[in-house]
Amino acid sequence: MSPELDYIVLYIDLEKYTMKISGRTFVVSGGASGLGRACVLDICKKGGYAAILDMNEELGGALVKELGAEARFFRCDVSDTESIAAAVKGLTAWTHEMGKPLGGIIPAAGVGRPGLILDKNLNPMSLDSMDFVLNINLRGTLDVVRQVLPLLASAPPCGPDSERGIVIMVASAAAFEGQMGQVTYAASKGAVASMTLPMARDLSRFGIRVVTIAPSMFDSAMTAVMSDKVKTGLKKAMEFPVRAGMPEEFSSLVVQAIENVMLNGVVIRLDGATRMPSKL
Ligand SMILES: NC(=O)c1ccc[n+]([C@@H]2O[C@H](COP(=O)([O-])OP(=O)(O)OC[C@H]3O[C@@H](n4cnc5c(N)ncnc54)[C@H](O)[C@@H]3O)[C@@H](O)[C@H]2O)c1
Repeated sequence: MSPELDYIVLYIDLEKYTMKISGRTFVVSGGASGLGRACVLDICKKGGYAAILDMNEELGGALVKELGAEARFFRCDVSDTESIAAAVKGLTAWTHEMGKPLGGIIPAAGVGRPGLILDKNLNPMSLDSMDFVLNINLRGTLDVVRQVLPLLASAPPCGPDSERGIVIMVASAAAFEGQMGQVTYAASKGAVASMTLPMARDLSRFGIRVVTIAPSMFDSAMTAVMSDKVKTGLKKAMEFPVRAGMPEEFSSLVVQAIENVMLNGVVIRLDGATRMPSKL
């Protein structure tokens, strides 16, 4: 075989091994806004279907109106296990009705509530504040994944690897270099990063992969509330490019993670080499 022909055969095989987005449903929590919304748009652009689990009915409804039959909104509070159960019931019926089996879970719902573990008057952080962040970012992520997995694991296997799909979780640069006031947020995101490999190990027998993306500062409703001083300080910590990431740059990595079957059990930093300093 000539080297040229060899290359052609390899190329065709790669296409065969690529996990397809088209014709499959992806569950996106926090899909009404920011990074989750960009994932919903890209998945639908690629011929996939998106079940949006979010508390923001206004934004979720507007997105579904824009996308049509390829998307469906399910009101859901990821910190409430019954609310997730109701959404999973609804999305299960929707996938059956559409005949579009599940291909992935993207638990992107998240919140930040900065606060010092101990303030200058010696008041420790309130338990309510800690629980709020941990219940959404950590417990909510795990609970969404846990409750949607039976549907993903019973989807028909696809391609030569008999793959069923992927879980793509969202950590943060704060998982590695949390700043002052980010103890709880860093705890939640560090835990999400840490569960990537064991989850990949648990799910490999079902042909399900697990990837986590850890973004630095990205434009979204979450960062829109930051003061100019904080944003300018964060920019000083950036190498290249010196700007916030765009939600579309996040979702393009999500698309790659879905399609590239060799990506598994890994936390990918998406941060333009930014390393957060102790103080801004
Ligand atoms: N934007 C950034 O700079 C950045 C950086 C690192 C990590 N992240 C992470 O990315 C994820 C997405 O954040 P974003 O920046 O797109 O913010 P965003 O505020 O634009 O979107 C978050 C979405 O989550 C939803 N949500 C919040 N609490 C919820 C709950 N209890 N149940 C269901 N939905 C809920 C909100 O309604 C919103 O639609 C979060 O996990 C965040 O921690 C963001």
